[in-house]
Amino acid sequence: MLADKNILIGVTGGIAAYKVVEVASRLKKSGANVRVMMTKNATEFVSPRTFQEITGNAVSVEMFGDAANFHVAHIALADFADAILIAPATANFLAKMAHGICDDLLTTTVLACDKKIIVAPSMNTKMFDNPATQSNLQILRERGVKILEPATGELACGTTGKGRLPEPVEICAAVEKIFTDKILSGKKILVTAGGTVEAIDPVRYIGNRSSGRMGCEIAKTAADSGAQVTLIAGKIEVEPPKNLTVIRVESATQMREEVLKIFDSVDAVIMSAAVADFRVKNPAAQKIKKSDEMTLELVKNPDILRELGTLKQNQILIGFAAETQNVLEYAKKKLAEKNLDFIVANDVTAEGAGFSVPTNIASIIWRDGTVESFPKMKKSALAEKIIERVANLSGDRKISTVNDA
Ligand code: C5P
Repeated sequence: MLADKNILIGVTGGIAAYKVVEVASRLKKSGANVRVMMTKNATEFVSPRTFQEITGNAVSVEMFGDAANFHVAHIALADFADAILIAPATANFLAKMAHGICDDLLTTTVLACDKKIIVAPSMNTKMFDNPATQSNLQILRERGVKILEPATGELACGTTGKGRLPEPVEICAAVEKIFTDKILSGKKILVTAGGTVEAIDPVRYIGNRSSGRMGCEIAKTAADSGAQVTLIAGKIEVEPPKNLTVIRVESATQMREEVLKIFDSVDAVIMSAAVADFRVKNPAAQKIKKSDEMTLELVKNPDILRELGTLKQNQILIGFAAETQNVLEYAKKKLAEKNLDFIVANDVTAEGAGFSVPTNIASIIWRDGTVESFPKMKKSALAEKIIERVANLSGDRKISTVNDA
């Protein structure tokens, strides 16, 4: 189930730390590559050597213990992890995590990690029920952290109540589940990708630098999340994903036609294509011969997204704003003009962002003016952020597939 997955287990200082030895062992047996990071207090309960023997990997504890590997330790493990499991998670650790405090290796790694995080709180019942802990858990929940409910039973402090670490087999099942969760199951999603091609004559065209990478990653992530996906792709430099319907188009006019055919039946449209704003008024039927000068007359293309914005019923509409200056300002304007739910904005001239590269640096802007700014990340990771947000929005909306039935 977990073949090739990199799991980082963060062990904090609770008596239940001993149970996590079995968690590490089970995850390893499921095929995962497991690394363990411990807080100093955790090492009072279980020796790092135990985890080292079980996982076959060195265990990290100290932030400054090994000067030569400082960078490796706190950033590389955040990058390494496909998911982080914090078990047991003490009240102290949850409080620090909720408020962005990073005063040791584990808290720093968690803060530097933008992947899936699961926490398994384990503590005395009164500590768990305390409004401070509950409000910290709520903060984490709202940020997308998966919280495992503690079990009820006899506690190490001699009392009985809620606060026990769930059984290792349950914790491992929860870790597997986050990789298989189908947050968009039952939804139909339309994604556009790539650049449109506007013919000048049968040989030449007007195009743009879009590679289609971002759109293909979004389509793939949506399909992996259980959605029924149609990808309408213009000119792309990558192979379209396999587990979805692909419709190839060339011009903006063709893209509009294909989009409008299915718009009524989808739950969300993610319009990541770079649609040309102009097309040649009268494309030549034969190849244009050389001459000293040539003038092309261009006419305005339909703005597909703007049209969808006027037609939309319950559909979620997501747009992109690829800009070279005043990114947020232009993006906010488009969000309003095109009647979108949110817009993904990026400066295509920034290093590590924009066309052809596998990374992007983007912000998501919401209708209420909220801006979420993301650091440089892989386009696949940004696709996950976008799909998570579409899934959250679609939870409240009409499901088109119900109507279709
Ligand atoms: O107005 P601008 O082209 O900058 O807006 C970008 C957004 O609008 C993108 O999501 C793009 O896919 C969409 N768009 C469109 N039709 C056009 C131009 C852009 O749907 N003709």
